[in-house]
Amino acid sequence: ISTIEAAVDELKQGKLIIVADSLDREAEGDLLGLADYVTPENVNRMVTKARGLLCVPMSAGVAERLGLKPMVSDATDAFGTAFTVSVDARTTSTGISAFDRSDTIAALANGDSTFDDFYHPGHIFPLIARENGVLERDGHTEAAVDLARLTGGSPVAYICEVLKKDGTMARRKDLKAFAEGTQTKMITIGDLIRYRQLKTVDA
Ligand code: 5RP
Ligand code: CA
Ligand code: ZN
Repeated sequence: ISTIEAAVDELKQGKLIIVADSLDREAEGDLLGLADYVTPENVNRMVTKARGLLCVPMSAGVAERLGLKPMVSDATDAFGTAFTVSVDARTTSTGISAFDRSDTIAALANGDSTFDDFYHPGHIFPLIARENGVLERDGHTEAAVDLARLTGGSPVAYICEVLKKDGTMARRKDLKAFAEGTQTKMITIGDLIRYRQLKTVDA
């Protein structure tokens, strides 16, 4: 398990990291990268090695600017994951290739983008983070936006759950093996919460 500082450095180099949530929550790990540095190669790595659903956590401010409305008005899922209507950048064709998804993620992080730069629905699922991040909700959505903010870049990231080759969820020991085998840094949301709490006390 890496420190938060090491994870932030890794993200600033455009690399992907693994973020594990608590064992009494989803008990899953997501591969995570920053939208500012997205590449088709990293999107391809995510969808082939992690195998989950590729989503784009973002701040409420970005979602507001892009006119992204909640996917449903009466969500009933267990964790309250804040899905919006899905999108594709208007520069894409099928929307689903690693190249198209990379373009859509980059457009979501582009401060000049507006509602009209996207098709609705599409193949990328934006998620809206709570304003106070992991101090308010201990989900991957908030962890992703908090990490993006810690790098000083746009508050937009991309994430995908890690599944095992047999299609079952990768749990903590599987995630550690994946991290070691692929030289990917791994952190927990619990550590990010403690990191932010200490920073708040310092400030
Ligand atoms: C979308 C999900 C994942 O769990 C993702 O990690 C975001 O959700 P949360 O913020 O609830 O952890 O359901 O694929
Ligand atoms: Ca989930
Ligand atoms: Zn999650």
